[in-house]
This record gives sequence, structure tokens and C-alpha cells, in this order.
Amino acid sequence: MKEIELVVGDPTSEAWLEVHHAANRGVWGAAAERTSIAEIVDVAARRHEVRRSFLVTEEGSDVPVAAAQTIRRTRDNVGTGGLWLSVHPDHQRRAAGAHLLARCEGVLRADGCVRIHEHSGAPVENGDAATGFALANGYRQTLLDHRQDLALPVDEAALTALDPRPDPAAYIIETSVDGLPEEWLEDRALLARRMSTDAPTGDIDLDEEDWDAERVRQQWNTPSPIWGIESVARHVPTGRLVAFTDLVVRPGQPDLAVQSDTLVLREHRGRALGLAVKLANLRGLQRERPEVTTVRTWNADSNAHMVAINERLGFVVTGWTREWAKDL
Ligand SMILES: CC(C)(COP(=O)(O)OP(=O)(O)OC[C@H]1O[C@@H](n2cnc3c(N)ncnc32)[C@H](O)[C@@H]1OP(=O)(O)O)[C@@H](O)C(=O)NCCC(=O)NCCS
Repeated sequence: MKEIELVVGDPTSEAWLEVHHAANRGVWGAAAERTSIAEIVDVAARRHEVRRSFLVTEEGSDVPVAAAQTIRRTRDNVGTGGLWLSVHPDHQRRAAGAHLLARCEGVLRADGCVRIHEHSGAPVENGDAATGFALANGYRQTLLDHRQDLALPVDEAALTALDPRPDPAAYIIETSVDGLPEEWLEDRALLARRMSTDAPTGDIDLDEEDWDAERVRQQWNTPSPIWGIESVARHVPTGRLVAFTDLVVRPGQPDLAVQSDTLVLREHRGRALGLAVKLANLRGLQRERPEVTTVRTWNADSNAHMVAINERLGFVVTGWTREWAKDL
């Protein structure tokens, strides 16, 4: 086997991406998620990360066998590296994965990482190669998430029936399409900080992320091929934002909306604000992007409350995601 390091965007990167897509199809079939080179370049540029990409081909031919990308964070959790690794289904179970994994672990270690934290996913009905692979390579599971899908459109009567309608003297819900209003950014930075400590991370300690208005602006308000919609709850007496949720639609898969973060500040929990912002965002998504046919979300299996709310909305469990950690 021959290994090269490449720059995503170079001509070789299409072959590299196709290995990831083929491995994904091997796990998920027709429902496999797809991405694009433009999106990968965009994400790397907007996040505080250094990414290195590797392609393994057969010796003597250029047939792609395995692909990987290492992810090193430079702003917070700098010692915790990430990894994206795929072996083409025609070449699995021949140690290519283990070989490339060892190479990536070496790269991250040399760049100062002391551990790796990553995730893998599989549909409910399928076997899960990544689990056997992670365990065989010394990773421990830190969290198990349910993956839930909702088929769109959801009719307005169902949304109205679930809507908690917070007291408008206490909270108002606002929605922003593809970018955030400048006047949200300070509060939104605090919400992002809380998100990094309050969402279940399972059996691993991560640092609070260092968010300020500028970082939020860079993440959400710079031109990007990724489209987003966000809804927030404003606490009327103080004027502050106290809850948020966002959905993104990626160019590689325009019929799929992916739930990213949802958070209600601790002091404002227990008032159904999480459900209120999610419903507002779903309404906005259906209005703005009628071509979206599925919303996808992940929740820790311990988060029974959120999973139950999603089921009332019509979400069904379609898979699992496991988070893994290994000290280097
Ligand atoms: C997981 C994956 C990377 C493994 O790559 P691979 O080259 O087939 O794995 P290797 O041949 O190096 O296997 C190393 C060990 O992992 C374990 N393993 C690998 N595949 C397994 C499977 N399908 N079931 C159970 N254990 C498995 C075994 O212990 C194996 O050793 P063995 O073959 O001597 O028994 C590959 O199946 C893949 O690309 N899957 C889809 C994408 C993915 O889930 N990536 C990982 C998350 S980022």
C-alpha cells in the first residue's frame, strides 16, 4: 500500500472523498450522507482547526483503498484531536484501516494531541464495523446517541398541538434565516459557551469552549455554502437570549436538514422553551426550504425527555452514534 498526504481541493481529493462516500454507502445504503469538497474546505476555514488529509492506494496501481483526515483544534480543547477515517468496502478487513489509524494517531501525537475523541455511526438494523474496529484499536466508548429522523412536511395541526406557547410577557421566540442578527452575537456567544459544557458529553472531560461575538460571527455570518436557520427565546424582562436551536442544510444533500445545537440556559429550564424554539425552527425550515424531506437529530440515550419529545413530533430512531476516546 502507498500513502500520500494531500490538500483538500487538489485533483486527488475527489478520489479521497469518494472513498469516504463509498464507505458511508456500505454502512447506510441509499440513506448515506454525502458531503462535497467545497463544504469541507469551507468548514476547515471557518473553524479554528488544522486538518491534514491522507489517501492510501494499492501499490503499483492508483486504486484508492482508504482515506483519512486528522483534526487538530487550535482555540480550545487543543490537546483533543479528531479523526475521519474510511476504508473502501472492497478493501475492508485487510488491515488498511488499522495501518492508516496508526499513522493518524502518530500525526496527532506529533502535533501535540494527548488524546483522540471521535464518533462513528450505524443504522439500527445493520452490523457495525466501526465498533469492532474502535474496540480492537484501544478506544473506549464515552457516549451512545440515538439518531432520529423526521419525514417532512409535518402538518401545521401537529405543530400547533405540541406548541407550548410561552407567556409573551416572559419570552418571545425569534427566528433568523442564514446568518444571525448582529445584536444576537454577544448573547449567542454565551449560549455557545454553555452548550460546550451543558450538553451530555458522556465519559470524557472537555474544556469549556472559548466563544465570543467575533467567533460566532465567523462561524455563522461569513459567506458559506452551508445554509442555516436558527430560533432563539428572548427573556422579555432582561432582553437577553436564553435559548437557541439551529438546523443546517448542506449543499451535498439539499433534501436533508441536520439538527445542530439546542440549549436552554439552566435558569430558564422547565418552561418548554426547548420545544418552543424547535417548533419555530421547524416551521421556518418548512417555509424557507420546502425541498427538505428529512430532519435528522442525535440525542444521548440518557436524554429520555428530548427523545420522547422528538417521538411526539414524529421522529423515528434510524441509527446509533457512538463516541470514542483514546489517550495517545
Ligand atoms: C471501520 C473501518 C475503518 C475498518 O477498516 P478496515 O480496514 O476494514 O479494518 P482492519 O482490517 O484494519 O481491522 C482491524 C481490526 O478491527 C476490527 N474490525 C474491523 N472490521 C470489523 C468488523 N466488520 N466487525 C468486527 N470487527 C471489525 C477487527 O478486530 C480487526 O482485526 P481482524 O481483522 O484481525 O479481526 C471500515 O470498516 C470503514 O471504513 N467503515 C465505514 C466508515 C467508518 O465507520 N469509519 C470509522 C469512524 S470515523
